[in-house]
Formats: sequence, C-alpha cells, structure tokens
Amino acid sequence: MSANIYRLVYYSRNLTADDANRFALEVDDILATSRVNNERDGITGALIFNAGCFAQVLEGPLDVVEIAFERIQQDDRHSEVSLLAMEPIAERSFPNWAMGFVGLSDANAARFANVATASDFDPSRLSGDRLHSVLRELAVEEENTVV
Ligand SMILES: Cc1cc2nc3c(=O)[nH]c(=O)nc-3n(C[C@H](O)[C@H](O)[C@H](O)COP(=O)(O)O)c2cc1C
Repeated sequence: MSANIYRLVYYSRNLTADDANRFALEVDDILATSRVNNERDGITGALIFNAGCFAQVLEGPLDVVEIAFERIQQDDRHSEVSLLAMEPIAERSFPNWAMGFVGLSDANAARFANVATASDFDPSRLSGDRLHSVLRELAVEEENTVV
C-alpha cells in the first residue's frame, strides 16, 4: 500500500535578487540541494521565481514534506514564507521532477498575463490551487520541449 501523499504550496519573498550573479548562483545551489534531498525523501515538485518571489509545490509523504518545509522556512535566502495549501492528493502532479524549476521567461510570463506581468509576478494574488495549476502547466510544457 502506498503512503498517503500530500501537496504543499507556498510562496515567499526572494532575498537574493539584489545582485543578479548572486541570484543565479543561489538558485543553482537551491536546485542542486533540493534534487538530492528530495530524491532521498521521495518528494517531487516544482519551483518558480522571479526577482521578487519564490513559489513552490512539494509533494510526498506528510512527514517528509513537513520536515523539508521546516528546513525551507529557516532558509535566509527568502522571507515571509506563506503557506497556501497543504492537502492530501490522489496522485502526484510532478512524478518525474525531484524539483523542477520554471524561470519566468518571456514566453512563460505571457501565461500569467491575466494575473500578473513578468516583472510583477505576485503569487500572493493566486490561490494554492491556481498556483499549483500554473506550475503544472509550465512543467508539462518544459517536459515537452526537452529533447
Ligand atoms: C525557495 C527555496 C526552495 C527550497 N526548496 C528545497 C527543497 O525542495 N528541498 C530541500 O531539501 N531544500 C530546499 N531548499 C533548501 C533548504 O532551505 C535547505 O537549505 C536545505 O534543505 C538544507 O539541506 P542540507 O541539510 O542537505 O544542506 C529550498 C530553499 C529555498 C530558499
């Protein structure tokens, strides 16, 4: 029998954005650490960010998702971590992604046109469900464009 799988959605304020080089290095570091830890823990998900915010979906067994979220909340590369959703789910939305990442390219930004502009992506105006759907759509697109 498989463990109950939960989905956690949050957004936060990106504190690394004042310096573009630092921002790129920190994001690389976050993704590398996330992929190792999440693979070990059976967590999947996706991360999106722009200069102002991070938003992330974590999916996995409740205990490991809670522990990962505790670590993430302590991280001083962001602040004002706001939980949008934490709920049991029937199946994972990102089964192949230990931590997928979707930067806000111009093309992706166009998809937010009805909720935010590229430079003004504001996840606090999205519900957890909507944020999850947006990340899912972008992830499917990215998967389809990988050769
Ligand atoms: C926006 C953001 C997202 C993160 N996502 C994850 C994640 O999905 N999994 C993870 O293990 N760490 C994540 N981290 C990093 C953790 O905060 C922490 O640095 C890391 O888990 C420590 O791992 P270590 O004890 O193996 O060094 C994230 C950090 C930030 C700022």
